[in-house]
Amino acid sequence: MNLTTRDQKHLWHPLTQHKISPEALPIVRAKGSILYAEDGREYIDGIASWYTAMYGHCNEFITRKVAVQMQNLDQVVFSGFTHEPAVKLSEELIKILPGNQQKLFFNDNGSTATEIGIKMALQYHHNQGNNRNVMLAFEEGFHGDTFGAMSVSGLSVYNGAFEEHFIEVLRIPVPLGENNSEIISQLKKLISENNIAGFIYEPLVQGAAAMKMHDAGGLNEILKVCKENDIVCVADEVMTGFGKTGKYFASDFMETKPDVMCLSKALTAGLLPMGLTTCSQKIYDAFYDEDISKGLFHGHTYSANPPACVAAIAGIELLISEEIQQKIKAVIKSHQAFDEKIKDHPKVTNRRQLGVIYAFDLNVKMERYGNLRNHLFKHFMDNGVFLRPLGNTIYILAPFTISQSELAKIYSVIEDLLNKF
Ligand SMILES: Cc1ncc(COP(=O)(O)O)c(C=O)c1O
Repeated sequence: MNLTTRDQKHLWHPLTQHKISPEALPIVRAKGSILYAEDGREYIDGIASWYTAMYGHCNEFITRKVAVQMQNLDQVVFSGFTHEPAVKLSEELIKILPGNQQKLFFNDNGSTATEIGIKMALQYHHNQGNNRNVMLAFEEGFHGDTFGAMSVSGLSVYNGAFEEHFIEVLRIPVPLGENNSEIISQLKKLISENNIAGFIYEPLVQGAAAMKMHDAGGLNEILKVCKENDIVCVADEVMTGFGKTGKYFASDFMETKPDVMCLSKALTAGLLPMGLTTCSQKIYDAFYDEDISKGLFHGHTYSANPPACVAAIAGIELLISEEIQQKIKAVIKSHQAFDEKIKDHPKVTNRRQLGVIYAFDLNVKMERYGNLRNHLFKHFMDNGVFLRPLGNTIYILAPFTISQSELAKIYSVIEDLLNKF
């Protein structure tokens, strides 16, 4: 039996309606930007495996360090114990996070990172006896698949079946420049009429909403109004974090800093699963008390898993290196040149770029998971490029380490599609 047949026997894949989806493609190896399939075919990973493997797959600088750690300390309970990898990671991460971030809370993935962000916002007010139990979020945001994260997400295909179980959430549109003052008026009205505890947002780029980008000045104004009203600002940087926007974090583009930040994906460079929720001293202090019930009683078994911490430390070392910073600049420049090339194509609309994130829409209406979208996906895969169109949006978010020739291949396969479609 080949892998596909064995897979079908017992496995249930994420985001998949098995009755109508094609069978899963077996991947046997990955190196740099390339995924190697069981049948010998190769695919350029144009989305860095959901934006995780930003320093390339199986990067030896990272894998070697993780291998050493695995011989030394594999796992230990993080409630009551600590260890060098967790402490070192906190020291290294604090150096690159916005200056107000002071404390790190470990978890397992992006959804748990945001779930804890939401809990921090709600309990921050609860601990102070404030009657605030409503979250504020952007329309069309995506923050993960656990209940709190689903509640604040706006995409119904993911969360529609569970709507009646959600926490209370109010929504505002993203700021696009021309609507900024309208949103601020709407926000002030919502604040005056509701007990808003926190605001959760994907800063500048809404990934799952199809790499929709918004205005930094407008977001800064929203954050300022929230802060003036003691609304806890929770930046979900699960997608945008660790250099993808051209700065270490998307929050670096705004003067007003978040109270809480949610991190995962590129945090561990695609090697091991881990999430982190960080916060300012002010948030931490609201939980610091002789009263045990004011603590954050949330804990995941694998919190601060030592090999995952080592992967994260190595990832940060790479991110801040001159070599990776130069590679980021090179990818940004290549995307700009490609954008210039396709900008007048009649099929291309809504082009957008922030850092190494490049996206545009095809001038054709399409369902998010419909046949037409699948046709695009097939075109890319048939030509050895792994890109996952989101409806009619085609986006590239490749590893920073991708070579110029690999990038050229991605561009040419996209151009080929534009000319054929
Ligand atoms: C902005 C954002 N938040 C949260 C998540 C959830 O992360 P995970 O899939 O690791 O649970 C994602 C995943 O794509 C995301 O893009």
